[in-house]
Amino acid sequence: MSCKEQKKISTLFEKEVHEGLTAFPKYLSSKFFYDEIGDALFQEIMALPEYYLTRAEYEIFKIHKSDIVKSFNVNGEGFDLIELGAGDGKKTKILLKELVDQKIDFKYIPVDISQNAVFGLEQNLKEEMPRVNVEGQIGEYSEVLDRLKEMSDRKKVIMFLGSNIGNLLHPKAIHFLKKLFESMHLDDLLFVGFDQKKHPQKVLDAYNDQSGVTAAFNKNVLTRINKELDANFDLNKFMHWETYDPETGTAKSYLISVERQTVDINGLALQVHFEAWESIHTEISQKYDDDTVEWLTKESGLQMITSFSDANNQFKDYVIAKNKL
Ligand code: AVI
Repeated sequence: MSCKEQKKISTLFEKEVHEGLTAFPKYLSSKFFYDEIGDALFQEIMALPEYYLTRAEYEIFKIHKSDIVKSFNVNGEGFDLIELGAGDGKKTKILLKELVDQKIDFKYIPVDISQNAVFGLEQNLKEEMPRVNVEGQIGEYSEVLDRLKEMSDRKKVIMFLGSNIGNLLHPKAIHFLKKLFESMHLDDLLFVGFDQKKHPQKVLDAYNDQSGVTAAFNKNVLTRINKELDANFDLNKFMHWETYDPETGTAKSYLISVERQTVDINGLALQVHFEAWESIHTEISQKYDDDTVEWLTKESGLQMITSFSDANNQFKDYVIAKNKL
């Protein structure tokens, strides 16, 4: 990441930490979980027995790879497979292999703000799947999508996996989908993962695992503030708390102050006071059903075409078009 980008992000971090910790009730954005330690903790989360999401989506790709590729409707023409926030590409490799096996002409374009993530994946694919044409793009999603729209007239399939969309409240998810809509040509498609509503206890367990990795992931935002903004949060004085509302399908994570305390954030010249049991809201992980996804897509000017689910209907990947196919 360039110094300029780093500076822009740290300024946004300062601004949002100040805003969130002086608000009532207090909040911090989950996008700040992901520094090097946060990325590693998220990798651990994905392998936890309680965190069913990654395995369910992996299963969808394994079972339905041939129909998923068919649903991309590429008709023998070349296309670009764009993945927003590609991560380690473990699930995507199943589709890449299927596309290669079916001798489909495509280019895989993983997009991420982190140069390390994109270079790492490019390198890995060059070694593991040399027949895949990979061309990573570094930058914010919307900036890269605008760039790609101008660069190529080839059909695009844009993937956004792992229910990453669930970390956005509905109005923000609609804003994001509208941005995607604007970057699409008429026959382009979206392929988006939405975690499904299910037994509330299963959701609660996924976000409050026995081994405490999710708690450490949540508290990492305080560690970041300590390190980057010279603060003195005592992590033992905050506990991780998870709620799930089966009516709205919203899982929420909080950090709760277990006693009355004051924290100094020297980098912001700010003292933050916490009453005993006061909360900081840190993340939402929305759960969906077909009606909600249909509503979100319609609100964004898009159309839901079909979906693929795992054997237990825990998770679904939806094919979404700009235009009815
Ligand atoms: C990245 N995102 C989809 C994860 C989720 O399920 O909301 C982040 C996460 N938070 C706690 N565990 C995993």
